[in-house]
This record gives sequence, C-alpha cells and structure tokens, in this order.
Amino acid sequence: MNKKIRIKTGNVIIAVGILVVIIVAIIGIFKWKEKLDYQKTDEYKLLSIGYSEEDTSFLIDNLDKDYLAQIIKDKTLDENIIKFYKQEYFLEKNLEDYLNYAKEHDDLTFSEVVAIINVGADKDWYEDSKETDTTKGSSLLVNKFNSLPADYQPNLVKTSNWYAYPDADEMDEEAYYAYISMYNAAKEEGFNIAMYSTYRPYDEQEEIYNDYKAAYGSEYADSYAARPGHSEHQTGLVVDVLIDSNYTRENFDTSPQFDWLINNSYKYGFILRYPKDKEYITGYKYESWHYRYVGVEIATYIYEHNITFDEYYAYFIGG
Ligand code: DAL
Ligand code: ZN
Repeated sequence: MNKKIRIKTGNVIIAVGILVVIIVAIIGIFKWKEKLDYQKTDEYKLLSIGYSEEDTSFLIDNLDKDYLAQIIKDKTLDENIIKFYKQEYFLEKNLEDYLNYAKEHDDLTFSEVVAIINVGADKDWYEDSKETDTTKGSSLLVNKFNSLPADYQPNLVKTSNWYAYPDADEMDEEAYYAYISMYNAAKEEGFNIAMYSTYRPYDEQEEIYNDYKAAYGSEYADSYAARPGHSEHQTGLVVDVLIDSNYTRENFDTSPQFDWLINNSYKYGFILRYPKDKEYITGYKYESWHYRYVGVEIATYIYEHNITFDEYYAYFIGG
C-alpha cells in the first residue's frame, strides 16, 4: 500500500517536471518568436540604424511608406529628414532635394531651404521656365520660372483718371474694383494711393527690360525688371502705386502711404509682392511700390504668415 503511494508520488513528480519543462520550452519558443517578429518591425530597424526612440516614432507616424522602406533598406541615418518634415511648408515630393540642397548650403535655415526648393529657386533664374497655368484667375503665378504667352490678354477695364496716373489706364476688372475700395478706404484716412503703372503688355515689358539692360547691364536689369512674358503686370492684377514728390523709390517705405498699405492692403486682396529680404525667393530687389491682387483670402494668409506669393502658390496651389 505504502509502496504504491510512493510510486504514484514519484510519477506525479516526474509528470510535473515534464510539464514544467514543456511550459518553459513553450514560453521560450514564444519569446524567441516574439523577438524574431520584433526584429522584423520598422521600429527595431530604425533604432538599429541609430534613430532615437522619439525620432523612430515620428518617422513611423509621418513618413510615406515607400520612403520609410527606402531609408531602412539604405540604412540612412539623417536627422535632417525629421527636421524637414517638421517645417510648416514641407512637401514630401521635395524631401530629397531639401536634403541635398541643405548639405551644400549649411548657412541656410531649414525653412529657407524649404522655401527655395518649393519655388524652384535652387535653379538659375529663368532656367526650366514654363508657361504658367492661365486658368488660375487672380491666383495666376508669374515669376522667373513661370511666364505668360505673349498674346495673353486679361479681362481689362479702363481705369478712371481720378485714381490713376495717365500711363495706368487699364487693369483686370476684379482687381480694379478691389483697388477702388482700397483707394477709398485710404482716402478716408487721408492717404492718396494713386496708380502709377498697371497693365503692361508684352512689347512694353520688352522695351522696359531692354532699356534697363542697355543702361545698367543684365544683372541689374534682372533684379528690377522682368524679362518679356515674365512680368505679372501683364496679368492686369498689379498696381505700382504713385510715389509723390516727397519720396523716391528708395525711401518710399518710410512714407505714411506705405505704412498704410503694408497694414491694410491685404484687406482688399493686395499683397506686397517683392518684400525686403525675400530676394532669394522672388529674384527681385525689394519693391515697396508694387502690389499684386490675389483676393482677400490669399492676401490675408500671406500677410499673417509673412511668406511670398511664390511660396503660397507652391504649397497650396501647386504645379
Ligand atoms: N518690376 C517688376 C518685377 C516687373 O517688371 O514686373
Ligand atoms: Zn510693378
């Protein structure tokens, strides 16, 4: 009887032992499998390349899947990727170009690189220039990379000589009525925002550009005057305001008239098109007198975010 019990107890101990071994083995296999599975994840691979946990999560949450796969395949460790992704006007299609341009221009900030690449200003002015999309209405982009056909004709109306210097005799209809509202608002506050130059056809642009070039050389000409087909004056959406005898072009930005325009023109849909310190994006020297109609919504955005129309177009309108 006692012997029987002893045998049974021995069996139980063996059985329990085997069970423990099996359980431990199963847990081991699970753990091993888990580890193998984890090693296949993007998280593991990015951490192994050298990204921090925070950057790894950011990359997984934000990167395009194909691009992420490429980074993992090439084992690319470049923290600038994350810095560019975090820029306000980051465009994924331009990431490679941002990275390359930043490497060659370490004096620039990330946002400057993004702006330059987005608008195409990493290329020489007029290089790869194409005809602009003329269906965009008041959002039409004309700059050193986007031109108008020589025969492009906006929807022009005659301007009243009440508002305009004799040369400024035609303007796009919508822009003209917006200008009149702006003119009246300024007038009520005691400022005369008269038109000096508005619509400028192709042949007139040619004449102006050639005159500048003959007098001062092409570098100077290019910094102030558009080459024919590249002046947004041809859109009819532009007004160069009249600078009265108290000011010159050089100091117009010290006038009360300028002060009013800079703080109010956006309410009527106009923007300062060639701002100070943005030459590297627009390709033109600061023009305190040149206002472009883009409509109130876009003008307000540009005013509030201190960007150029070229940047706005690249990011929000595209092409
Ligand atoms: N002055 C401006 C850039 C033009 O020629 O259109
Ligand atoms: Zn102008």
